[in-house]
Amino acid sequence: MKTAKKFFCLEGIDGCGKSTQLKRLAEFLIGKGFDVLTIREPGGSEISENIRKLLLDIRYKGVMDSRTELLLYNAARAQVIAEKIAPALEQGKIVLADRFAWSTLAYQGYGRQIDPQMVLELSKITCGNYNPDLTIVLDVSLEESRRRQAGDNRVADRLESEAVSFFERVRNGYLKIANEFSDCVSLVDANGDPDTIQDQIRQLILQKLV
Ligand SMILES: Nc1ncnc2c1ncn2[C@@H]1O[C@H](COP(=O)(O)OP(=O)(O)OP(=O)(O)O)[C@@H](O)[C@H]1O
Ligand SMILES: [Mg+2]
Repeated sequence: MKTAKKFFCLEGIDGCGKSTQLKRLAEFLIGKGFDVLTIREPGGSEISENIRKLLLDIRYKGVMDSRTELLLYNAARAQVIAEKIAPALEQGKIVLADRFAWSTLAYQGYGRQIDPQMVLELSKITCGNYNPDLTIVLDVSLEESRRRQAGDNRVADRLESEAVSFFERVRNGYLKIANEFSDCVSLVDANGDPDTIQDQIRQLILQKLV
């Protein structure tokens, strides 16, 4: 088994294709002989999955305070780092995360309009040294994201049921993040077909594995 101790993350608005692409990427890396841990956020450990239920529960729409939301995302993250991510990296695995701390900056910072500097400070407390070596933001238009979600035919959760203006701020937030933190965040146009997107993701990841 090859060891790598690398942490990669896929980000982007709802329905941009993160889960689809992460699954393919994991299969590709396993095929190359790496030991891979995949996690989804919020979640990935029992405590974090319980926090996820609170966060996504549609009954709390208009009830959950933005700061509660911010802190719960961070709480879920601290736990999955301690229980899953840190041990996996110690064991020489590649960790692939479906969302991580940049989601909190995009959604709670830019989307909910909580001071981005404060969100970043809190992330430092939560993540310490556990930050992705590379994050790939899959950028799609809001129209395309809506089309893909509609195709999934499931009930929207609390975050997914936000207004279009919220998702515009989130998408623009991701574009700002990719621009500002270009040393560790890359942008991929994800409006096209899944194979082309996967090729671009693999190229970016392989550059970090040499
Ligand atoms: N490149 C693509 N072109 C067309 N459809 C796609 C593409 N990528 C994914 N899809 C479809 O769009 C839907 C959403 O994709 P996926 O679940 O991977 O997105 P996601 O970013 O993980 O969404 P969420 O944030 O809700 O978890 C799925 O039905 C998937 O099959
Ligand atoms: Mg997904």
